Amino acid sequence: MSDTTGTTSRTGRVQGKIALVTGAARGQGRAHAVRLAQEGADVILVDICAPIAGVPYLPATEDDLRETVKAVEALDRRAVSVVADVRDQTRLRAAVDDAVAELGGLDIVVANAGIMIAGQWHEITEQAFREVVEVNLFGTWNTLMVGAPHLVARGGGSIIVTSSAAGLKGLPFLSPYVASKHAVLGLARVFAAELAKDNVRVNTLHPAGVRTEMTSPAGMAAYGEAFAANPRLVGMYQTLLDAETTEPEDQANAVLFLASDESRFVTGNAMTVDLGTTQY
Ligand SMILES: NC(=O)c1ccc[n+]([C@@H]2O[C@H](COP(=O)([O-])OP(=O)(O)OC[C@H]3O[C@@H](n4cnc5c(N)ncnc54)[C@H](O)[C@@H]3O)[C@@H](O)[C@H]2O)c1
Repeated sequence: MSDTTGTTSRTGRVQGKIALVTGAARGQGRAHAVRLAQEGADVILVDICAPIAGVPYLPATEDDLRETVKAVEALDRRAVSVVADVRDQTRLRAAVDDAVAELGGLDIVVANAGIMIAGQWHEITEQAFREVVEVNLFGTWNTLMVGAPHLVARGGGSIIVTSSAAGLKGLPFLSPYVASKHAVLGLARVFAAELAKDNVRVNTLHPAGVRTEMTSPAGMAAYGEAFAANPRLVGMYQTLLDAETTEPEDQANAVLFLASDESRFVTGNAMTVDLGTTQY
């Protein structure tokens, strides 16, 4: 793993903790799982490992999920993998409860699973809008409903909800995505308020572009025509720093901080790792 993202250290920043990561088969979810394992956590890895209607980029597979398991086990940490859809709270609860019982508790929840369907406002179908909201908003709520009781039972913990720069800014050509990512920010703020008495912290992560399948040419295909039809909007994606995209490990470092006791007095915070794009 790259030195430039600072991911080679192993100093036990979450030693002995147990983390649930959704969307863990690849991309940022895998990076979060590996980064937490590097610093001493055992992990429960959830992913659907299947296509979702209308999503234009390649789906994750069970092989991808097995790769994440291997990467965690190579760090001498335990990994329990679960193929489950975050849209199905009943199945998610049963699977996560079993995994928590197997590993002996839960301290950290990373609600990371998400999908993106891009297109100009008039191109977005009702089905696409529903799919994105069901995965990104209901899926996040389901993850919190399933994970939070374990943290409360443990006497405290940390929840990190993956929103986006699109959760702070009306990024064009992403209407359902922006709606869902703003919604999870509000959701996380409410959970931060209500769970504070239980010593459970809740924060959101707001990445800008991350080099994953979601931002592959297939995921971004709608942008060519959309920018051509709306040239004044190109600047809304401008970054301050001299880079166009971040790596999953850049996001994982922020998740690690929010998961660890280093952030013990941080809750209700919207953390950007976005190259400054939300400043525009
Ligand atoms: N890539 C970016 O530029 C970017 C920027 C900001 C925020 N995000 C957010 O980061 C998170 C991770 O995305 P990524 O970039 O790693 O993309 P990704 O597509 O590589 O990973 C997303 C993972 O979530 C899983 N998933 C999707 N729907 C699911 C469901 N219903 N149940 C269980 N698992 C499901 C997928 O199978 C996949 O493994 C998402 O919430 C995304 O919206 C991504």
